[in-house]
Amino acid sequence: MSNIFPKWVDRMREVLAVATIGGFLTVVFVVNTYFSDENLSVGYTPTQPIPFSHELHVGQLNLDCRYCHTNVERSQHATVPAMSVCMGCHQKIKTDITDPDDKQKKLVNPKLAALLTKYQAEIEVPAKINPDNSPDKNSGTVKVANPDYLKPVPWVRVHKLADYVYFNHAVHVKQGVSCVECHGRVDQMAEVGQQKSLSMKFCLDCHRDSTNGFNTRPADKVTDLAWTWPNDAAKAAHILESQKKLNPPKDKDCSSCHR
Ligand code: HEC
Ligand code: HEC
Ligand code: HEC
Ligand code: HEC
Ligand code: HEC
Repeated sequence: MSNIFPKWVDRMREVLAVATIGGFLTVVFVVNTYFSDENLSVGYTPTQPIPFSHELHVGQLNLDCRYCHTNVERSQHATVPAMSVCMGCHQKIKTDITDPDDKQKKLVNPKLAALLTKYQAEIEVPAKINPDNSPDKNSGTVKVANPDYLKPVPWVRVHKLADYVYFNHAVHVKQGVSCVECHGRVDQMAEVGQQKSLSMKFCLDCHRDSTNGFNTRPADKVTDLAWTWPNDAAKAAHILESQKKLNPPKDKDCSSCHR
């Protein structure tokens, strides 16, 4: 046998294995780069445990993103605020709204119900318990310390990259990439939903976009989502500056994003 077939046939199995794996990876890569579903997670808007509205707190009350997402300029993660940040205001905020049917009557704003009960420092409970362990509704109420006070809220995660991708907020925000580029107009959202695909193509489209200065802006405008360039000259000067200063990882720099 060994005389009929040339020597390299002995290594055929390994050759085939390498070729197959290589071919598979190439297919995965090509499919992902050129045909990846741009709408993969776009539109995902989970219901949150408390109906917190960015439209109200940012759009109307004008709070800066960094008031709550304190780490966004400093670390990899933006992080969601602790309940103490909310309660700085919500311990004091008026809780009653006028009943539309009976102007004399006050109703509790149902959207604030969780903040007014579960997350208050003190809660009202019936003063007495019946022998069958049920609250005695006729006994009046007393205020007691709330065991749930300032406990973390189980917020549902909206944007999530696969574990094999490395992404750092601080790097982007400090170089003038606005939240709006990756999250859309959060200041107009009553509920946060994903607006951009956050696919590999999405990231690379910006990293390649040297013509537009990689879509950066002055760093002090990153949280002003409605901001636009005051004039073309200012924009042109910034683009020129960015082209000199910035060099985001391109298509072949796999290990910058997959480390
Ligand atoms: C008053 C506090 C507060 C302010 C101000 C605020 N946020 Fe948030 N943000 C939250 C809370 C609480 C959540 C989690 C609940 C939710 O998703 O709605 C959140 C969630 C988010 C998420 C989704 C996180 C995820 O799970 O993927 C994004 C994106 C976001 N905020 C962006 C912004 C941007 C951009 C701004 C400024 C324009 C901003 N936020 C201002 C409190 C705040
Ligand atoms: C700077 C002060 C401030 C902070 C901080 C703040 N809020 Fe508010 N929030 C308000 C005001 C003002 C209102 C409007 C109250 C009203 O309509 O009666 C409000 C309303 C709300 C409502 C009712 C929404 C509605 O549509 O009626 C919810 C729920 C709420 N806030 C949750 C939160 C949560 C959760 C946090 C922390 C992540 C937070 N707030 C942080 C000031 C604040
Ligand atoms: C270049 C794109 C990009 C920009 C700019 C950006 N984000 Fe994000 N953000 C992401 C990605 C991607 C994730 C998911 C990260 C993950 O899964 O590890 C995310 C996640 C988040 C989360 C969820 C918690 C966390 O840290 O993972 C919050 C909150 C958030 N971003 C807020 C902001 C705010 C506020 C700004 C602007 C000051 C901002 N982001 C700017 C891409 C961006
Ligand atoms: C709107 C433009 C824009 C988008 C979208 C964007 N980036 Fe970037 N990225 C930049 C800029 C600008 C830099 C900074 C380059 C520099 O400092 O030279 C950068 C730098 C980086 C770096 C190198 C710095 C570091 O953290 O090690 C990585 C990695 C990176 N981006 C990953 C991502 C990923 C992953 C995504 C998609 C989820 C993404 N980027 C989306 C503009 C963008
Ligand atoms: C700018 C950052 C960035 C660079 C550079 C990059 N990738 Fe990616 N890659 C991503 C992101 C983001 C995803 C999508 C992750 C997700 O879906 O959560 C991804 C996904 C993938 C996947 C999974 C396929 C799938 O279906 O999602 C493969 C395989 C991959 N990348 C290979 C590569 C190779 C090979 C290179 C170099 C030639 C490369 N990447 C360069 C950011 C990058």
